[in-house]
Amino acid sequence: MRVAIVTGAGRGIGCAIARVLAAKGWRLVLAARSSEELERLASELPEAIAVPTDLTRPDEVLRLVAAARDRWGRVDALINNAGLTRVARFEETSPEDFDQVMAVNVKGPFLCMQAVLPLMREQGSGQILNLLSVAAKRVFPEWSVYCASKFALDGMSKALAEELKGTGIRVSAIYPGATDSPLWDDVGPDIPREGMMRPEAVAEAVAFMLDQPASSRISELVIEPAAGDV
Ligand SMILES: NC(=O)c1ccc[n+]([C@@H]2O[C@H](COP(=O)([O-])OP(=O)(O)OC[C@H]3O[C@@H](n4cnc5c(N)ncnc54)[C@H](OP(=O)(O)O)[C@@H]3O)[C@@H](O)[C@H]2O)c1
Repeated sequence: MRVAIVTGAGRGIGCAIARVLAAKGWRLVLAARSSEELERLASELPEAIAVPTDLTRPDEVLRLVAAARDRWGRVDALINNAGLTRVARFEETSPEDFDQVMAVNVKGPFLCMQAVLPLMREQGSGQILNLLSVAAKRVFPEWSVYCASKFALDGMSKALAEELKGTGIRVSAIYPGATDSPLWDDVGPDIPREGMMRPEAVAEAVAFMLDQPASSRISELVIEPAAGDV
């Protein structure tokens, strides 16, 4: 039975990933800050634990991986899904917003990957899947800090993938386009969501990537709304 840590599992894409993986028999360790959302989801899944975690805090991330190890004894996949955005004209983006987006979108995955690697090296296997965005491939006005964070994570993810070649640990990245999740509540009420993907579509793609045989890896997968950018 395979074990996955899913960050940002309380809602949106992370919640859909948890549900799809649970249906495929994965044991799950669910992480985010909102404990109520996590506990509710964990109670609905056959084999899942909720570990409330602020992923920007090194001590909490170490506790998250320790909880996974204590409960299941191994971690087969780390899914770095948690993320947030701040959308604003460049001159109106505050240094605090910059720090927060970078902390969650870049430092969080950095801490999680560092924390899980010793265990994966012991196992001689593991998969790390980073939730990027089409905003790591092309840029959008007023999304400058978000784009910067996703380009940064993209570089870190690819460099680590190279560093881990031959270890049995595989690093992959998925680049979704617009997906109808609570993330858009923060962007604005007037954004039309009809043309967006459902979180379940991204989750199914994640499950497919994780299902590859140990001898192969889908290094990158772009998944977008059929109708194009919204
Ligand atoms: N929705 C899209 O259109 C879209 C497109 C491409 C890529 N993505 C990426 O997909 C991922 C998931 O996005 P989503 O749309 O599902 O977002 P969402 O609905 O806003 O959910 C974000 C999740 O991240 C968690 N999170 C935020 N800050 C955290 C922190 N400091 N520590 C722990 N958890 C934290 C949130 O939980 P708490 O607030 O409770 O901590 C929540 O569970 C993100 O990386 C996003 O950039 C989204």
